[in-house]
Amino acid sequence: MKGKDFLSVADLPSDGVAQLVERAYKMKRGKGERPLAGKEFALIFEKPSLRTRVSFEVGIRQLGGTCTYLSQQDVGLGVREPEADIARVLDRWVDGIIARVFSHRSLELLAEYANIPVVNALSDLEHPCQAMGDLLTIQEHKGSLSDKNIAFIGDGNNVAASLALACASVGANFTLASPEEYRIPTNVLDEAKRRATAAESKVDWVSEPSEAVKDADVVYTDTWVSMGQEEEKAARIAIFGSYKVDEELVKAAKPDFLFMHDMPAYRGQELSEGMIDHPNSVVFDQAENRMHAQKAILAGIFGD
Ligand code: NVA
Repeated sequence: MKGKDFLSVADLPSDGVAQLVERAYKMKRGKGERPLAGKEFALIFEKPSLRTRVSFEVGIRQLGGTCTYLSQQDVGLGVREPEADIARVLDRWVDGIIARVFSHRSLELLAEYANIPVVNALSDLEHPCQAMGDLLTIQEHKGSLSDKNIAFIGDGNNVAASLALACASVGANFTLASPEEYRIPTNVLDEAKRRATAAESKVDWVSEPSEAVKDADVVYTDTWVSMGQEEEKAARIAIFGSYKVDEELVKAAKPDFLFMHDMPAYRGQELSEGMIDHPNSVVFDQAENRMHAQKAILAGIFGD
């Protein structure tokens, strides 16, 4: 991945996904690596962020680099200036761009015009850094990834798409339970299925949450209303009403299942009040691991 963009989990070959998780696991336990010494990064965020912003900023500093945070108000991506101009200005000063955008196309344009690597810090299509942190969390708690059953309940959104690709890459089985019109986009699904076939695992879709959760090692959910979909909020809450993850639903999972959520979590909507603090919840380990996974990603792209 050295010198390359990271816009999608599919930018890594399947064995590259496993290697990245391994590297993150080691970096989390190691000390003092500074592969980003002397490197500068621009963090462009069109949308709000707690975990992604702080974990990138702290992770970059720990690896010896520095960064400048730019909000949409500062940059006006595609509004005040086209992506093509922003990319060609920033690459005169910094070594990498890390961007959270509404439209995945904005990332592609930044990547096309910048002579430096671009990292996806969430788009409408994918959240690859989240998926890498999630694999690290599952690996730590379960000891391995292959043959694990991951059930994702709710919207086949950016988080689900990246997780499907990541699971398929490492031989884990991924099942999405969603309403039919909210499945993972076909092009992403096709790539995930191709990887799953090679790894002898499965990527499935069902409409019933109870079916997906049966014998699951991981029960995962995310908001029903992603950033940028606020106007659809009322309709989405009605559509996803029967996809809530609660104490009753998870009884069908394996007794030692992990409950995961990328957060922010909307208690009373996609999950019951108690799930974040459920004994099987690992949501704060997940949040912590964002940083370790991203450090491995940055070391892979920008290190020697
Ligand atoms: N699917 C959510 C993830 C938030 C981290 C969103 O895009 O808003």
